[in-house]
Amino acid sequence: MKVIIINGSPRKGWNTDLMLKEAEKGAIEAGAETEYVNLYDLQFSGCKSCFACKVRDGKSLGHCAINDGLKPILDKIDAADALIMGSPIYFGDITAECRAFFERLMFQYLNYEGQRFNDGKLKVGVIYTMNAPEGYMDYLYKNYERLFGMFFNYVGHVAATETLQTNNYDLYYLGKKSEQYKLERREKQFPIDLKNAFDLGKKIVTE
Ligand SMILES: Cc1cc2nc3c(=O)[nH]c(=O)nc-3n(C[C@H](O)[C@H](O)[C@H](O)COP(=O)(O)O)c2cc1C
Repeated sequence: MKVIIINGSPRKGWNTDLMLKEAEKGAIEAGAETEYVNLYDLQFSGCKSCFACKVRDGKSLGHCAINDGLKPILDKIDAADALIMGSPIYFGDITAECRAFFERLMFQYLNYEGQRFNDGKLKVGVIYTMNAPEGYMDYLYKNYERLFGMFFNYVGHVAATETLQTNNYDLYYLGKKSEQYKLERREKQFPIDLKNAFDLGKKIVTE
């Protein structure tokens, strides 16, 4: 069982990265082999609508033909058993890099004439982290569940809400008033979020 983990956050060592690392530990404990990818280390674009992945009898049919930094990752995902994608919420959605990845991943499998260009077996889990409280992004989870469900075996998501944004709120205009509350949440709630991420990593392998 091969699991690819995609970090759609620019900040290494922060919330999304930490959640994904726990998911990775869960997957490893369940016996998977994993590969961890930091999207922000790669040079790549979103889908360019070239339709090379849809050319009748074409050599790239069902596969993205853009040969940039994401191409080897898409190929690895194509051959893998599971994918865990993690992203912070930026202005009500996943990050721009993560969305570019998502476009490229999805569009190659879309056949407007019916059958998709993959076998639908890849298991997918998603991890979100955000400033907003629980419940605010339910519409978004549902939307990605629906979209991933078009081509993959969607296993579930985990969200870390009201995350700590910095270790020193004195330095930034980030809502000084919320610092104490965020620190407490980091101490009490975040370990639970990490455990949920670990469990998702395990579940994606065992279920
Ligand atoms: C550009 C930007 C936009 C953001 N927009 C939102 C938002 O719309 N909703 C929200 O709840 N949090 C928002 N946040 C907060 C992040 O989602 C949150 O702090 C997240 O946990 C950061 O993940 P990281 O620690 O992995 O970087 C935003 C942060 C940035 C930098």
